[in-house]
Amino acid sequence: MRQILVTSALPYANGHIHIGHLVEYLQTDIWVRFQKMQGHRCVYFCADDTHGTAITIRAQAEGRSEEEVIAEMSEAHQRDFAGFGIEFDHYGSTHSDETREICREIWAALRHADMITEEEIDQLFDTEKGVFLADRFVRGTCPKCASKDQPGDNCGHCGETYSPTDLVDPVSVLSGSRPVVRAATHLFVQIEKLHDFLNEWTQSGTLPAESANYLRNFFLNEPLRNWDISRPGPYFGFEIPDSPGNYWYVWFDAPIGYIGATSQWCKRHGENLDDWWKNDETEIHHFIGKDIQYFHTLFWPAMLKTAGYTLPTRVHIHGFLTVDGEKMSKSRGTFVRASKYLEHLHPSYLRYYYATKLSSRVEDIDLNLEEFVTRINSDLVGKVVNLASRTAKFVAGTGLSETYPDDGGLFETFASRGRDIAAAYDKGDYSKAMRAIMELADQANPYVESNAPWELRKDPEKQKELQDVCTVALNLFRTLVIYLAPVLPDLAAKSGALFGETYTNWDQAATPLTGRPIAKFEHMMRRVEPARVEAMIHESREEAAEQNLPVSTGEAPAIWDDAGDALAASPIANEIGIDDFLKIDLRIARILAADEVPEARKLVRLTLGLGGDNTRTVFAGIKSAYTPADLVGKLVVVVANLAPRTMKFGVSEGMIIAAGPGGEDIFLLSPDEGAVPGQRVG
Ligand code: MSP
Ligand code: ZN
Repeated sequence: MRQILVTSALPYANGHIHIGHLVEYLQTDIWVRFQKMQGHRCVYFCADDTHGTAITIRAQAEGRSEEEVIAEMSEAHQRDFAGFGIEFDHYGSTHSDETREICREIWAALRHADMITEEEIDQLFDTEKGVFLADRFVRGTCPKCASKDQPGDNCGHCGETYSPTDLVDPVSVLSGSRPVVRAATHLFVQIEKLHDFLNEWTQSGTLPAESANYLRNFFLNEPLRNWDISRPGPYFGFEIPDSPGNYWYVWFDAPIGYIGATSQWCKRHGENLDDWWKNDETEIHHFIGKDIQYFHTLFWPAMLKTAGYTLPTRVHIHGFLTVDGEKMSKSRGTFVRASKYLEHLHPSYLRYYYATKLSSRVEDIDLNLEEFVTRINSDLVGKVVNLASRTAKFVAGTGLSETYPDDGGLFETFASRGRDIAAAYDKGDYSKAMRAIMELADQANPYVESNAPWELRKDPEKQKELQDVCTVALNLFRTLVIYLAPVLPDLAAKSGALFGETYTNWDQAATPLTGRPIAKFEHMMRRVEPARVEAMIHESREEAAEQNLPVSTGEAPAIWDDAGDALAASPIANEIGIDDFLKIDLRIARILAADEVPEARKLVRLTLGLGGDNTRTVFAGIKSAYTPADLVGKLVVVVANLAPRTMKFGVSEGMIIAAGPGGEDIFLLSPDEGAVPGQRVG
């Protein structure tokens, strides 16, 4: 028996759960239910991530305390999760005594290991209120597009990101006064001291291959930057005991919330925390999205290692949800809240649909609304539930046959697939498991068709045959339901009621039921009505439009909803003067040709035109994100005065500019309409 501790990322307390979040919480819940059915000891913890500036801004706008806001959100989150059948062993909050206590312990260990250093950084200061201002507490005119009243971290109008000190005419949201620049001392964790450990740990099978490969280069190229983990008060969070007036940055205490939640559960259940977090026999599995990898694959293991906690056995990383091929969008109505979904549709539909899409790879998954309807209707209603709805009523009086009839080896086949299906679940390849289950369903249905119990029932001579055919069909149904139970606990419960049993163990699928009464058939799953899907999208769109854009209240416009994670993962580099910047000659260039470099895994050979006859050859590591054909014709930005570099495949005469962490997430920068090749950028 394995002892397994599982977590999902802790949702921010400043927003509601939506169908994007649910990719993760459903993925995790399915895995946990599966492990429990394998007879393993498996516990699932989560909590609200409560600290940081966003909560304070919201609390102030609503004239309430932060505590009131987070209490209400915690309730809403838990209601949404319960509505989707997501079953935590404990749901906590990072704003808890337990989390604070463990923060202190881990902090003391970091100090003891001499991992903490101090650095001065410039920050805006409100002289009236006497406080440093977090980015979101400053508003002003965008330095790029001159839109007024924009937040301190990015422009809601043009999307530019900047730091609050860049704003033209900055204003403190707290006092309305003009803030001044002041140096503040922040505390940093020197994770570079664990360079070798982290390099090894990230390459030891703990991460999906895509993530591990990306990090391998990352480690080769540069030292790990110090991580800024303090914020001057006032800040909604925990004050740092040996640095009064400073608070831990929300991302310091957030993952510690995993342990805090475990600790609360331990207290309630008479368990020992160290059995779970300081025990090599315990497996720890984190489920997270690709946007928060850095925190979980660098900072978090560094903290655990330093403080003597068990390191994660595996970090399961999923991609992002798109709807009909596009990013979830409020204006299109595809930014659907969990609670809105539940007003219209049954949670089993989404549980199954996501399961058919999820694999162990770090891939985005698409919710295609049309496919969603047909998938559920043809697979679950048409192939699975139909087996029972067409046969159960014929044996309601007699029950199942006393001995299992000859079915030509069908049940054998069903039972023998159990092992493969289990292996797929265990690896997180739910799509593979779902395919295997539907292949079995495709064998069961022809059996029912060809034996036509609805004909047998008309012939008094054939009542035994009728009972046997229904016994086979219902047993095949039952095995499918057990295989689907981690995904569809609701269907499993309703089917169990039909047979007078509950499904708690995977092995139940391998033995047929005989000589049992069958309860009256109650409907198990309705078809999805496309009109309900449309109504859900329509209402989401209307409601988003109603709430929209209270721009001047000190609240960031909800529509952009940019998390600060990318910036936090890669802090702003050391300051430079304008002269330093002007040394870099950036130019607009057109991609005239793009060719594969077959010998190179990552490179594309680009021929760039700078206007007239001026061309350059540049090798760009963007193969994982772009296909050559899509590049030709595009305008890009090139570092034109970079010294040529001789590579194995030729000389690279410059570098094109892109954002993103790598892999599929590389985003080339292109100029707005009107720019022409050869123009200088600056
Ligand atoms: N509070 C942090 C996590 C702290 S963990 C110690 C956070 N919260 S979140 O609410 O923004 O996101 C919670 C989880 O949901 C993250 O793993 C995130 O990747 C995932 N998702 C949020 N939006 C998503 C999609 N649109 N698609 C798929 N997963 C998404 O990050
Ligand atoms: Zn702007």
